[in-house]
Amino acid sequence: MTGGCGFIGSNLVKYLRRERPGWTVVNLDKLTYAGNLENLSELEGDPQHVFIRGDIGNRELVEHVMSVHGIDAVMHLAAESHVDRSILGPEEFVATNVLGTQRLLEASRARGVQRFLMVSTDEVYGSLGPTGAFTESSPLQPSSPYSASKTSSDLLALAYHHTFKLDVVVTRCSNNYGRYQFPEKLIPLMVVNALHDKPLPVYGDGANVRDWLHVEDHCQALLLALEKGRAGEVYNIGGGAERRNIELVKAILGLVGKPESLIQYVKDRPGHDRRYAIDPSKIRAELGWTPAHTFEQGLAETVRWYVDHPAWWQRVTSGAYLQYFDTQYRTR
Ligand code: NAD
Ligand code: DAU
Repeated sequence: MTGGCGFIGSNLVKYLRRERPGWTVVNLDKLTYAGNLENLSELEGDPQHVFIRGDIGNRELVEHVMSVHGIDAVMHLAAESHVDRSILGPEEFVATNVLGTQRLLEASRARGVQRFLMVSTDEVYGSLGPTGAFTESSPLQPSSPYSASKTSSDLLALAYHHTFKLDVVVTRCSNNYGRYQFPEKLIPLMVVNALHDKPLPVYGDGANVRDWLHVEDHCQALLLALEKGRAGEVYNIGGGAERRNIELVKAILGLVGKPESLIQYVKDRPGHDRRYAIDPSKIRAELGWTPAHTFEQGLAETVRWYVDHPAWWQRVTSGAYLQYFDTQYRTR
């Protein structure tokens, strides 16, 4: 797996260790600001989780890791993932998401891996009007440097299937939420700010819509796609929980018992996509996937987790978590 120390990746590593106890998960992660090895502290000493710090763009390293550990399948999650950061500095997004993915694909092809699961995003489809939902055949119209870089990697993966017969499956999911999400993303940012009685910055008019997916439901879908997806196919994954940002922010304030006066409307994100919604019919029909969480229950549990784990997000927001790798790994 790549990116196993990030938000979705760390949830997925733990999910795979529970659901497929016979597997060894080799986790290649560069530990950028978004990669936090502490997310996996409960796996310390587990010989079936092998962590390697490294860049997916380093082909020699990737080939070495694949051969030493006998890799037979790749779940590719490593990416620069935050839209606002891609607007401030697009270059790293091209380096990791485009070039890094191409090098990983090339190494996977050289190794002859049995399956390459490309974790893409619904942002490849651009923005929807007030009705309708993205299907796998919706036109690709990415808006931000982040989504353009993800579209490039998504299409490169499919091209490696068409041209080189690499066994590729692509998944495109909607906005994830849950434990261990870096507090730059909407839900954890709003919880952390509210707990500090700081303003909650809502972009534009707050009427942009996102379709929320619990990270555990996403992990379940990724395992199904890995094991049962058809080569060369794309599967959309969505939680069927469309919410306007402002409704969601008000719900969070209600859950933490803070006043709506903390809401502050701020300048809109440039090129801000108005609405995302996923039609998950294909993955339901072909792979039998259905989300287990309702949004109300999942959001309440998620907010409770952040309230109960101030040490985790305080270390993340202060940057202290970055030293964890040195103390846990370099000194051993
Ligand atoms: P994240 O930012 O929390 O984690 C990304 C991880 O990738 C980090 O651990 C980071 O250290 C690692 N990484 C970054 N550059 C790397 C490189 N060059 N080499 C090796 N490792 C590197 O991201 P996330 O939210 O967990 O998203 C995971 C994947 O899912 C991404 O590909 C993202 O595009 C996709 N996705 C995320 C969402 C979402 O809502 N979070 C939705 C759709 C798709
Ligand atoms: O749709 C899938 C995508 O979801 C993933 O591919 C991305 O990796 C992931 O970051 C996420 O992108 P978004 O841009 O939708 O997520 P974000 O949490 O940044 O923003 C969610 C919505 O909330 C969006 O409409 C912008 C708005 N927002 C965000 C922040 C951080 C605010 O109003 N205020 C904020 O401070």
